[in-house]
Amino acid sequence: MTASTPTPLTSDDDWWRSAVVYQVYVRSFADSNGDGVGDLQGIRERLPYLRDLGVDALWLTPFYISPMVDGGYDVADYRDVDPMFGTLTDFDSMITDAHALGLRIIVDIVPNHTSSAHPWFVAALAAAPGSPERARYLFAEGRGGHGELPPNDWESIFGGPAWTRVPDGQWYLHLFDPAQPDLNWRHPEVRAEFEGVLRFWLDRGVDGFRIDVAHGMIKAEGLPDVGFNSMTGGRRQSELLGKGRLPYFDQDEVHEIYRAWRPILDSYPGGRMAVAEAWAETPQRLARYIGPDELHQAFSFDFLDATWSADSFRKVIDTALAEATIVGAPTTWVLSNHDKQRHVTRYGDGEVGLRRARAASLLMLALPGCAYLYQGEELGLPEVLDLPDELRQDPSFLRTGESRDGCRVPIPWSGELAPYGFGPAGSELSWLPAPATWAALSVAAQAGTPGSTLELYRAALRARRAHPALARDADGVTWLETTGPGVLAFRRTGGGAELTCVVNLSDAPVQIDGYGQPVVASAELTGQGTGHVLPVDAAAWFERR
Ligand code: BGC
Ligand code: MG
Repeated sequence: MTASTPTPLTSDDDWWRSAVVYQVYVRSFADSNGDGVGDLQGIRERLPYLRDLGVDALWLTPFYISPMVDGGYDVADYRDVDPMFGTLTDFDSMITDAHALGLRIIVDIVPNHTSSAHPWFVAALAAAPGSPERARYLFAEGRGGHGELPPNDWESIFGGPAWTRVPDGQWYLHLFDPAQPDLNWRHPEVRAEFEGVLRFWLDRGVDGFRIDVAHGMIKAEGLPDVGFNSMTGGRRQSELLGKGRLPYFDQDEVHEIYRAWRPILDSYPGGRMAVAEAWAETPQRLARYIGPDELHQAFSFDFLDATWSADSFRKVIDTALAEATIVGAPTTWVLSNHDKQRHVTRYGDGEVGLRRARAASLLMLALPGCAYLYQGEELGLPEVLDLPDELRQDPSFLRTGESRDGCRVPIPWSGELAPYGFGPAGSELSWLPAPATWAALSVAAQAGTPGSTLELYRAALRARRAHPALARDADGVTWLETTGPGVLAFRRTGGGAELTCVVNLSDAPVQIDGYGQPVVASAELTGQGTGHVLPVDAAAWFERR
């Protein structure tokens, strides 16, 4: 092994407080070997692109050994790279290069469940009920006269019962796919194992972790019923995510795990951080995941559900800022990720959706805190809605008819024909097909093209880095009176400068006066005298120094 000597980037331990983090969905980013699947070497080759884009860090979705039932969120070996994605040596080279370019690396950790191909689960199936092998997972006896009914009424997030029966009659819990058995986090071996996994990747130089299903590891004692589920004609239990309590999510005891993890992170130099994918009933409960003795951040997912309206956006921002005050940590803004329909499509798709998505992104990037971008949003990619069913791979598709494949289509890099340079020259393979209309959206088509979405992101990220009113220590958000109900305007100040972000969500152009000079705009501004006119579905930043 060539364990590189990982050098922390700088002594800026608080880098994550204002970072722009770019989410790389590894199998769809760049394919270096022509097998149609993105890989670590592909990421390494594209690092200069990400540096030029102007992001601070990458979050890599799971690239560990996996049968890929859930796109790698079903891990069979947490300490090795799946051959599909490369080798540990590729990982070491990639992180070394990333650090040399000033880019930090966050990796995904999936502690709630393993793959059913994990040696622990294989051993559990081979062992008898009540054995130590089974104790690392959540096996239980069924209900009904002969144990033929699941132990309780819990529903998988992917639809259907959260329990599967094994040949000897016991059932095991899987909050996701049956190929993702839930671990028993009350078992000391499980805790010790993951502490070792954290150290393994910290030793390899990672700058942080994104914790998958961070709210899920502890289940209520006695495995009590929820009381309803969609299998018996009720609501989906998952509708309560972020809105109510479920006996398998957000249990108080989960915090002990993070209190054990934090000292491990803190024992490494260079500001190693962790961000939780956590869903909790209230901002107060979400806040409990964050703090000097637990995690650094939890995603704020409210933007993912916001509609294109001034009221909706304003509410999301005010709520998230209030949450940030409760937790004493910066907000984490997310407009798109690998689990949600892309924001171009959520805002109406086509030209309108793209205009609005660009405006929303500009709005997000002017806000204080940390912003998470999802690969391809800087190209204005829409959701691919017409993937043939037989090509869809999301396990939830078979169980619920809903699929997340449409936001996971490989990135178009260059050229006229799909898969647009996703692989090496001449390679025609890609694990999901890109639409015939994506040539104009490729990186090569947009780079250097005035007005392209890529150039908009580059300009916005450059300004965000350079502008004193957007600096980490700049003041928060001050809302301004605007000309109409569909217009949002807020001001940031810092270092003697002032930056105003205006978003036009109304149905008429708005005249902007008195905010100073335009810095970046998502659509062309037209001038009238000293003022500017901001078109419908557009956003712009203005500055005064
Ligand atoms: C990930 C999903 C995954 C699920 C199960 C989620 O939080 O973001 O992509 O399917 O966890 O691991
Ligand atoms: Mg490949």
